[in-house]
Amino acid sequence: MTNKVIIEERQGEVMNLKGGLNGKKLFLESYGCQMNFADSEIVASILQKEGFITTHEEKEADLILLNTCAIRENAETRVRHRLTHFNSLKRNRPSLVIGVLGCMAERLKDKLLEEEKLVDIVVGPDSYRDLPKLISVAEDGERGMNVLLSREETYADVNPIRLNSNGISAFISIMRGCDNMCSFCVVPFTRGRERSRDLNTIVHEARYLVEQGYKEVTLLGQNVDSYRWNLSRDGQVVDPEKGHADFADLLAAVAQVNPQLRVRFSTSHPKDMTDKVLETMARYDNICKYVPLPVQSGNSEVLKRMNRGYSREWYLDRISAIRRYMPDCGISTDIITGFCGETEEEYQDTLSIMDEVHYHFAYMFTYSERPKTLAERKFEDDIPEEVKKSRLAKVIQRQSEHSHAHHKTMVGKVHQVLIERESKRSTECFSGRNTQNIVVVFPKESSAPGDYVNVLVEECTPGTLIGRIVN
Ligand code: 5AD
Ligand code: SF4
Repeated sequence: MTNKVIIEERQGEVMNLKGGLNGKKLFLESYGCQMNFADSEIVASILQKEGFITTHEEKEADLILLNTCAIRENAETRVRHRLTHFNSLKRNRPSLVIGVLGCMAERLKDKLLEEEKLVDIVVGPDSYRDLPKLISVAEDGERGMNVLLSREETYADVNPIRLNSNGISAFISIMRGCDNMCSFCVVPFTRGRERSRDLNTIVHEARYLVEQGYKEVTLLGQNVDSYRWNLSRDGQVVDPEKGHADFADLLAAVAQVNPQLRVRFSTSHPKDMTDKVLETMARYDNICKYVPLPVQSGNSEVLKRMNRGYSREWYLDRISAIRRYMPDCGISTDIITGFCGETEEEYQDTLSIMDEVHYHFAYMFTYSERPKTLAERKFEDDIPEEVKKSRLAKVIQRQSEHSHAHHKTMVGKVHQVLIERESKRSTECFSGRNTQNIVVVFPKESSAPGDYVNVLVEECTPGTLIGRIVN
């Protein structure tokens, strides 16, 4: 995924804040997960205060920033190609400053600056407040870096600039970092320790979004169900002077902001998914009935090697709990094929758990060994690439069948849809999602983006429901 960020329409606001623009243009490109896209909105806010305006024309930029992802090797390869390309622009514009932000900055640190000489500044995910200083260092011809990770930084007071927004759905970052140490994952090394943002600032941001006309918020974190504000791991209140909340409390508080505001979250960890969260989801109509619950593998031994902290049986118990509280809940997963030592039988267990759960949707990957992770240190990356890929192809095929089967059961039924945008298929249709996060496409009639409409689904594909508005 990549997006080019445009905040030119906010120029007036910049003028008011600074009494003038600094005349410099920022080109910002984001890669990777939703957290990165949300972080880019924080970066844009910090730099807007410095008077930068944003452009989607790389050729006119004074500053090019890439907010990067390190989760798999191919994500990094792509960024390197982009950096080589951006460096070629320097021939005609020596004053151009190029920076790498995010997970790849944190992972590679000064390697990007010193060895590869691809960039002028390197800024890790907890150091965005330092960007103005580092940019000015780079403008003076030096190289600037801050990759310090923090135990406290949540950017709670930064009001994100909504980038490439449809004005209907927005992300709210509720926590940062991850303490889980899944053996395959680089995130704990690039995003640091887990910390939760003050509930009041989250609710405030949700209220502000409602005032701006937004209809849907997605609460974001690497592992949202371990959100705990002013609570210790064993549930004790840390500071009795302040309020406190776990994820279920936070969900309820955001749901109460406005019954017309849809609330979603991404992503959760099965070991932390409590009945209290599920009960809260069931209680509020405006909390979408959709749980992303990454399984990674269907085999308990592989899960042990992955250090996931649950077994197949435990995971299936959580699935039963979801269905108990919300019989029609949409469930999605993440799956990795070809993790270290994955035998044919272990891989078959992944296919069988897919059959058993019957997911609505899945994000599927081949294993990519990441430096410094537990898996890299402990296990051999011994599954040949062709085997990883052929296992992935079968997983994708199976998921497509399951999604299609789910969608077929939805034909003939009426779904409440929040209209998000014009459909890519036809200018005569809108597209939105139902509560289970499934895309629904239908003729516009007299509706508009941001409206809730009832859609009778008449046909479907493995990816989409197609229907028409009914009263
Ligand atoms: N290789 C392949 N996939 C990975 N993921 C995380 N780390 C790796 C890796 N090293 C996947 C997991 C995770 C998703 C965000 O990316 O499935 O849930
Ligand atoms: Fe990575 Fe596991 Fe943390 Fe997710 S929960 S970010 S997979 S370490």
